[in-house]
Amino acid sequence: MTVGIDKIAFHVPDYFVDMAELAVARGVDPNKFLIGIGQDKMAVIPKTQDIITLGANAAAKILTAADKKEIDMVLVGTETGIDYSKSAAVVIQQLLDISPFVRSYELKHACYGGTAGLQQAKEYVLNHPDRKVLVIATDISKYGLNSGGEPTQGAGAVAMLVTNNPRILELSDDNVFYSENVYDFWRPNGHDYPLVDGHLSNDIYIEGFKRVWHESNQRHQRSEKDYAALTFHLPYTKMGRKALQSIFPEISEAEQNRLMECYEESILYSRQVGNLYTGSLYLGLISLLENSTSLKAGDRIGLFSYGSGAISEFFSGRLVEGFKEQLQPAKDEAALAERQQLNVAEYEAMFAESLPEDDVETEFSDSTPYAIRKIAQGIRYYNQ
Ligand code: CAA
Repeated sequence: MTVGIDKIAFHVPDYFVDMAELAVARGVDPNKFLIGIGQDKMAVIPKTQDIITLGANAAAKILTAADKKEIDMVLVGTETGIDYSKSAAVVIQQLLDISPFVRSYELKHACYGGTAGLQQAKEYVLNHPDRKVLVIATDISKYGLNSGGEPTQGAGAVAMLVTNNPRILELSDDNVFYSENVYDFWRPNGHDYPLVDGHLSNDIYIEGFKRVWHESNQRHQRSEKDYAALTFHLPYTKMGRKALQSIFPEISEAEQNRLMECYEESILYSRQVGNLYTGSLYLGLISLLENSTSLKAGDRIGLFSYGSGAISEFFSGRLVEGFKEQLQPAKDEAALAERQQLNVAEYEAMFAESLPEDDVETEFSDSTPYAIRKIAQGIRYYNQ
């Protein structure tokens, strides 16, 4: 029996700011953001949308009425939760009208939460092959205006349906994981933005990748030749590129070129959105699968997941015959192209807006699907 990703989709906010314009406004050479960071556009989210609306919109793109009856678990990976106690998963389950006979909960380990959900989903479906698990990775990445992390912000969600006999990617049982207690990026309770040691985080990410990559090759008797493509957590697209290049001294030029070509295909969407935190690796996977001209059934794809704090995990899966038919490249490209561009002043104004204090009842007029329509006594009410 095989278990893996049967359906996958992403959702990003309707607004973006151009990175070259942002660079000029910040007095920085645009090539620092475009090449040095590797980002063209950055998603901007209005106050009436949150991790729940992003996650619900992503999942709504893949779920049928039949799926909603066969789902046993709704797992939401996030590091920008909206409640210390209540799980976003149960709100999304209700918004999407998924059977209430589900186990729903949130998972946290910085950008790793989506991968934790995916692995739990895989293990559950292995034991319950006739059931399905919905995994959602949803986040809003904010470091603050004029901060060092500002060009690496973003927002969005990826939803994955994990099933028996999946039609996209069969997950292998080859995970190698490594955890170490590091303060590279953290957000103590009460802080609106993370505290981040940016250059340390880059180093830990690269070291983490090399460690689990080498360990995986040793444990499974594999090399780069066994992988049609490697995909990476993408806090910004230069980061995954640096990690991939860190193993180049060990591999032939032909293999470097082959892997780099696939890497370029995997970052096309992230370049236009920015960091999705938990969803970034999976947005990269969608971008690769939708834009690759060389991938075929049976190919092995390697996935590197990184969560600050820190955990590194490398695992892989094999593409299934007909995987392209389960994807929606035209719709995805249209969704990215149809977003509204904000100038820097508009971005700053949208960024600064926040929901009112919990006990002030307020109604909103955002009519987009699942947007927040009202807040009262700490409860967010959504369009349905
Ligand atoms: N043209 C081309 N390139 C230029 C340039 C120019 N004019 N000016 C600068 N650059 C290059 C630099 O050479 C540098 O390249 P390398 O990384 O290859 O050396 C790159 O642009 C970035 O320049 P700096 O290192 O000077 O940038 P910075 O000090 O402003 O910080 C950052 C960059 C550390 C990523 C910062 O934006 C940050 O802290 N971001 C948030 C943390 C983060 O995303 N960390 C990633 C790993 S942690 C993780 O993955 C979890 C997560 O999602 C947060």
